[in-house]
Amino acid sequence: MCGIVGYVGNEQCADLLIEGLRKLEYRGYDSAGVALLEGSLVVVRAKGKLKNLEEKLRAEKPRGTCGIGHTRWATHGKPSDENAHPHQYAGVAVVHNGIIENHLELKAELAGRGHKFSSETDTEIFAHLIAEEEKSGGPLVAAVRRAVARVRGTYALEVLSERSPGTVVAAKNASPLVVGLGKGENFVASDVPAILAHTRSVIFLEEGDFAEVTNEKVSLSNASGESIERPVRHIDWSAVMAEKNGHKHFMHKEIHEQARALTDTIRARASVETGDVHLDGCSLDAVFVQSLTRIQIVACGTSWHAALVGKRMIEELARIPVEVDLGSEFRYRDPLIDKSMLCIAVSQSGETLDTLGSFREARARGARGLAICNVLGSALSRESDDVLYTHAGPEIGVASTKAFTTQLGALFLLAVKLGRLRETLTTDAARSLLTHLRELPALLEKTLLCEPSVKLAAQRWSGARDCLFLGRGPQYPVALEGALKLKEISYIHAEGYAAGEMKHGPIALIDENMPVLVLAPRDPGPQPGAAYEKILGNLQEAKARGGQVIAIHSEGDTMVAGLADASIEIPQTHPLLLPILSVVPTQLFAYHVADHRGTDVDQPRNLAKSVTVE
Ligand code: F6R
Repeated sequence: MCGIVGYVGNEQCADLLIEGLRKLEYRGYDSAGVALLEGSLVVVRAKGKLKNLEEKLRAEKPRGTCGIGHTRWATHGKPSDENAHPHQYAGVAVVHNGIIENHLELKAELAGRGHKFSSETDTEIFAHLIAEEEKSGGPLVAAVRRAVARVRGTYALEVLSERSPGTVVAAKNASPLVVGLGKGENFVASDVPAILAHTRSVIFLEEGDFAEVTNEKVSLSNASGESIERPVRHIDWSAVMAEKNGHKHFMHKEIHEQARALTDTIRARASVETGDVHLDGCSLDAVFVQSLTRIQIVACGTSWHAALVGKRMIEELARIPVEVDLGSEFRYRDPLIDKSMLCIAVSQSGETLDTLGSFREARARGARGLAICNVLGSALSRESDDVLYTHAGPEIGVASTKAFTTQLGALFLLAVKLGRLRETLTTDAARSLLTHLRELPALLEKTLLCEPSVKLAAQRWSGARDCLFLGRGPQYPVALEGALKLKEISYIHAEGYAAGEMKHGPIALIDENMPVLVLAPRDPGPQPGAAYEKILGNLQEAKARGGQVIAIHSEGDTMVAGLADASIEIPQTHPLLLPILSVVPTQLFAYHVADHRGTDVDQPRNLAKSVTVE
């Protein structure tokens, strides 16, 4: 997500903050800013690259031996000077990573007490709440604690106040924060690279921690104000390792970020209590949704695979026919589109030209357009009637991972929303589906525990020339996605197939040199599901022809494990959500095969992150 750096010491720190932010540039950002405190607060912010901020700082020459800085990757409000952090109010300045769920409620409440807001961000709320809480007296950290207690959401927060010179207060919930210990100076940052040039002694804050940082002292406390201790760690990472938070590649880091990314995508949108889904940025109403005759989804690559799962979600939950097409095909086939249709474009970048071209074509022919994308302010989001952001955070590895799982989370939310508006889902049914969704980030975290067995399998078959991926039902798009991941980063030829299609041709390929990765999770509950029973048959067909079977199956399924040459367990959940879990071992398999073969995992040959050509 965005980058944060803070400093308290005896040096003028504007340059130091810029230098720290520069170390976080690789993560992507659209604007940046710093707040410096020496007597009074000075905030300087600029849209675009850090050099724009530097130019402003050179002109304004603000002074401060205490300061906070931020690079922003927009989530609420477009990239602009006004929306850039720090945000300030009444002598308080804040920088924040994360998402505040109840910011609209809080904003309305504060506006009722006469507060005026100067940005479209959720973050600005913090400055207002903290300034109000300061009036009750006590140290700044106590005011921050009271303010934070009123907020629902995720945050890594740093705060400066004119009433507490020489102090930075930090608070953490879900988004990372690290305190750096120096001599006569201390640091707080979202990521180690920002402070690595100054110190290697750090404290990683944990959920619910508060830090009061001065030049001499770092005091940690919890939500009740009790003092706490956290271990001081020595960081021996190289600068390059630090950028990846200790992971060898960005792709690996991003695979491991998926639970958090999914939480950010579904948080504040799904109410398990009422069975309602609130999609900020989408104004779909019952009249329009009930009049829909068809949905057309357009996408490319991994996003197309997500769309194929989305089709099943929407058709099953909202009973609307859904067609899915590749961006590069749809626009050139003189598509049948009219006003009774919704066109959904799915795209991580929001800039993929084929997807954009198809979306424009559908809208020009009268369809309403809904974009599911990850990059705020992207071309797709600007041209769409409704936008559903995935909140995966910047994805740096060229091979998409967390974008895919968050797209599935967003599509599931949309399917439940459409089902509610069309009355194909009762309140109880929606509550049950949303309960499954809410449990998913924890299950995704648990799924990652399969990594050691996936790594072993990857090393065993990393010399393969070809690889087959088989799945049925919602697992068929996962087979396509697993094969795409493997081919793009390891350069092994891989094919994804609907397992039932094997007998119509591809089975001829199977021999003892062919690893066959079979996605065979069973449905939860007493019945294993029709797809499960059929895929068992396909698995046995592959074995009978000498194929080496790597099975991805539900935990405790000894039947599949007994048939396979390598067996990888995943937890159980609702069948429509299972792809979010089952794709994880396929991502890890591709990653470890590629790593073992020594290919350029993050920047595979011939590929670009954003494909803005036809
Ligand atoms: C594969 C991958 C690509 C993208 C495709 C569409 O790992 O990343 O297949 O999914 O280029 O990109 P977006 O989603 O940005 O439209």
